[in-house]
Order: sequence, then structure tokens, then C-alpha cells
Amino acid sequence: MTREPLDPEALRRTLAGAGRDLIVGRRIEWHARIDSTNLRARALAASGEPEGTVVLAGEQTAGRGRGNRAWHSAGGAGLYLSAILRPQAAPAAVPLFGLMAALAAQEALRILGADAVSIKWPNDLLVGSGHTLAGRKLAGILTEARTFSDGIRDLVIGIGVNTGQTAADFPPELRAIATSLRELTGAGPPAPEPVAAAVILALDRWYRLWRRDGDAAVLAAYEASAPGLTGRRVRVEGGPAWTGTTAGLTADGALRIRRDGAPERIETIRCGDMIRIEEA
Ligand code: BTN
Repeated sequence: MTREPLDPEALRRTLAGAGRDLIVGRRIEWHARIDSTNLRARALAASGEPEGTVVLAGEQTAGRGRGNRAWHSAGGAGLYLSAILRPQAAPAAVPLFGLMAALAAQEALRILGADAVSIKWPNDLLVGSGHTLAGRKLAGILTEARTFSDGIRDLVIGIGVNTGQTAADFPPELRAIATSLRELTGAGPPAPEPVAAAVILALDRWYRLWRRDGDAAVLAAYEASAPGLTGRRVRVEGGPAWTGTTAGLTADGALRIRRDGAPERIETIRCGDMIRIEEA
């Protein structure tokens, strides 16, 4: 699992050679070890850091996942990245940026050789069906925002990618459900700079696309990329479990599920809801 830590200067050179002025990745802040890149990016955002700053760490001591879970963040084993954005959008659009980040992460992972990666609503990156590692998680996204009544003050998009782990490197509870770029591509542990550059450039590209074409374009791209948003039998867990059939997304990215039983009832599941949706 051990690999050389990311060289921030080499990353800056790669980004400077991208051939365009970046929004995401304008400034890179690197930490060999930190509690959480999301916490750091949120603190920076609160103190007025401009849009586009990216915080990266070699290791997180308190990596955070969705639903108050921890994100396994051992040193030399993953990409831990958080980007600050300040989109001019309504508070209701916050979840859309999580979907946008999932599209960006999928694009980056494909560039890095993980062709089989698939998006599970809202923003888990899993190995797609038909692969020997199908259903295992390769990357996750935690979006955190500060809003005011009619706008988004700032938004932190945190992305964690399992890069160099073998099964033995994951804690026992993750061994059967997680995988890494290394396992998926069959190559050695990837160098950290190309992984970080691919994710930053993809985030930059998708954010520009949103600025140019708006919410509907991101939503349409997401619907084309994430399988199972309609007609999939699912089991919803997190309180008393129930089953139903997916019935598409709302305009702000929530998932509609037609709940089993009469009379017909459509539930709307929001990205931040503390629930788990599994294939039934
Ligand atoms: C998930 O639960 O799937 C979301 C995981 C998000 C993890 C990333 S790692 C970089 C950033 N910093 C954190 O503390 N969390 C996110």
C-alpha cells in the first residue's frame, strides 16, 4: 500500500499544462496529514477563500462520510480531496452539485482506467454489474454547503477515492464491499498526482458545463449515466424498511420511489436523508 506522497508542485505543473484557466484547482493546499479535508475546506470557505481552492491530504485522521459515517482514510492508500465552490444558485440546488461531482468522479475514474465504474444515486461510485468486483465501492462524495435564504454561500465537495489498497488493506468490515483503482485496473498502486489531476480537471469541466448550460444539463447527463433511476425494485432502509420501484428524479435531484401497497404513494428521497437504498 505504501507509496510516495503526492508532490503538490508536480500536481500544479500538470494542472498548469491543462491548456485552460481553471476554476477548480486555481489554488492547491496540500497536507501530509489532516483531520478531514472537508473540515479544512469549510473553514477556509468561512474565512473568505475564493472559489476553486482544492485541499488535498495524504492521510485523514477523521475522514467523514455521508450519514455521519467515517471514511477510511489511511495514509498512502487513497485520494482525499475537497474543493470549494461558490455557485450562484438557490439553496435547493445543493444536491445537484453532488450529482455533478459524481459525474466528474466517474469521468476521472474512467480516464484512469476504471471503465466499469457506475454511479449509484446519489453519488456513490461502484463497480458496475457484470464485473467480478460488481457492487463494490470505489469512491464516495460528501457535499456540504452553507446557504442563506435565497442562495448558496459556499459549497464544499469532498471526494474520496480508493486508489492503492489491496483487500487486506481495508478494515474487515469494508473488505467485502470496497475496492480500489489498483484492484480494478490490475496495475500497481497508481501515482497520486495523475489521480488528483484527473479528478480536479473533471470537476472543473463539469462545473463549467453547469455554469454554461445550467441545472437541466447536469440532470440530463446524470440520468443518462446513473442506471436504475426508473423501474428498479428497491428496499429502503434507515427506519422501518419498505420496498418500492424507482420513478425518476425531481428537478432538484431527489429520487422518487413508488411505494408498494395501495393506494399509490410516491415518496421523495432527498440526498441528505439518512436512509440506504438497496436493490430488492
Ligand atoms: C461517502 O460516505 O461515500 C462519502 C465519502 C467522502 C470522503 C471524502 S475524503 C475527502 C473528503 N474529506 C472528508 O472528510 N470526507 C470527504
